[in-house]
Amino acid sequence: MIDFATQLTHLLGPQFSKEGLDPNLAEVRRSARPDLGDFQCNGALAGAKQKGENPRALADRILEALRGETMLRETSVAGPGFINLALSETALAEQANRLASDPQSGLTPVPRPLRVLVDFAGPNVAKPMHVGHLRATVIGDSLQRIGRALGHHVTSDAHFGDWGLQIGLLIISLEDEQPDLPYFKPDYNESMWLETPPVTMEDLDRMYPAASARMKEDEAYKERARKATAELQKGRPGYLALHKHFWKVSQVALEREFTALNIHFDLWKGESDVNYLIQDLVKQCKEKGVAVPDQGALVIQVARPEDKKEVPPLLLVSSEGSAMYGTTDLATIVEREREVRPELYLYVVDQRQSLHFTQVFRAAEKAGVSEESRLEHIGFGTMNGTDGKPFKTRSGGVIKLHDLITSCTERAMLKMQEGGYGQELSDQDRQTTARLVGTAALKFADLSNYRLTDYVFDLDRFTSFEGKTGPYLQFQGVRIKALLRKASEQGLSEAPIQVLLPEEKALVLTLDGFNAAVHLAFEKRAPHFVAEHVYGLAQAFSTFYVASPKILDEKDEAVRGSRLRLARAVLTQLELGLGLLGIQIPERM
Ligand code: ARG
Repeated sequence: MIDFATQLTHLLGPQFSKEGLDPNLAEVRRSARPDLGDFQCNGALAGAKQKGENPRALADRILEALRGETMLRETSVAGPGFINLALSETALAEQANRLASDPQSGLTPVPRPLRVLVDFAGPNVAKPMHVGHLRATVIGDSLQRIGRALGHHVTSDAHFGDWGLQIGLLIISLEDEQPDLPYFKPDYNESMWLETPPVTMEDLDRMYPAASARMKEDEAYKERARKATAELQKGRPGYLALHKHFWKVSQVALEREFTALNIHFDLWKGESDVNYLIQDLVKQCKEKGVAVPDQGALVIQVARPEDKKEVPPLLLVSSEGSAMYGTTDLATIVEREREVRPELYLYVVDQRQSLHFTQVFRAAEKAGVSEESRLEHIGFGTMNGTDGKPFKTRSGGVIKLHDLITSCTERAMLKMQEGGYGQELSDQDRQTTARLVGTAALKFADLSNYRLTDYVFDLDRFTSFEGKTGPYLQFQGVRIKALLRKASEQGLSEAPIQVLLPEEKALVLTLDGFNAAVHLAFEKRAPHFVAEHVYGLAQAFSTFYVASPKILDEKDEAVRGSRLRLARAVLTQLELGLGLLGIQIPERM
């Protein structure tokens, strides 16, 4: 189905052509002045300029040609030559009924779907996920959902950080704690593997921060960690075995987090998975003269004359012979080109890594691994505390994602109790609902901001059932579900939608904007356009419900049936739209 703006653009386009003008000037948008019309077209101004005539006269001629068009109730020219268009009731009702019978609620796929790779979340093995990973996870997941809804062929990859210095640090810190483990023996082989992991997640949580702090003061310790990292990468069997143990232990924790957030990846790959490609990649870069020696290391120069800021070279092999963060990113592109062949890569990673991605993308182009134009860094700002700095725990440490999810659920439960929500639910259902509400609060708070904007973490506001929040949106959905449930219990049926009240018209116009909002969100890689849309929809529904509160008591069967169908159409779109943000609406609340 085609939305109103497009239909009207198609209606006006030929008139612009007839005037000898570019039909693209006919672009129609929702009106900034709803008192003057539902839609507007500003093309007569530019068109008249081209022709050297009065824009009002041109606008009048265009509208004259549209006289008798059944879609339109009224047209007018305002100001210097703005064309205002008001839709007829029939057009509104027909579109409303089309929307109501479309399970996709007006959403249409892109004409040319792409193979898209979304690299997001990026948690580090052996380090707990922190709130910085939350944004990457939530935004990346929404982009993968939006991409799929538009028909793109999306492959998502978590790209775990598991091949850097943090693993070397853990190895030496474990060596100090348990030197007798077989993994440290120079002659370790697979027959010496112990099924029981040498560490728990709690151990890792404790060991990593301590080792990382010590490294900052103890140069020799850092040297040891570097050496261990290099040996691991060269394939020392005992270290590879430890790497495997760390992975397994971390995986349990990571899966728990992602499941709690209802987030899924097609690929659970990590940096270490491309180790097999690195030697060859380095060799080829050397042969092509792309990689050059620099103080004992090997680098790829990526600076360009037009750079406003200095872009340092990408470090391909360190002086210890280790592959670096950029090296594994490059090798991962090599693998993705072979296995996924993406036409578009989206890297959803903190904006503070933008220089890293500039280096990687340029190096990929230079090494002939991929094309820079297909590689995009989708950066985002930070989630701050009330002090305006990246969010920390009260004691100043980074807050773990797991703890954050738990506190959101607890606060959601509290808010539900305070507001009298979910009272008729069993304890278990109430708990499930609180979890859905808590994650909705967290996700919506994040996704309702433009991704590059920093925002302040405010649990109390996020979990509120009032205002621009996830719980508010869920509640509007639950309200419609309850209405439809009661209607069906009373045997009331739906009927074709009639657009009688101004609030109904506003609701239909909002519903009609869904498709454009979703497309825009993908084009700009910005889920907040969807968040804005669903919020507007919930508000429009709420206004309609205030204007027409007793739908079930309505005596006129046709009117009652129409309102029920309209409510169902809103619910469908609300569920789809929130679904694109990774938010579910509970059955009851
Ligand atoms: N593990 C990295 C970090 O915690 C993020 C990985 C992002 N993705 C990538 N392809 N580099 O900072």
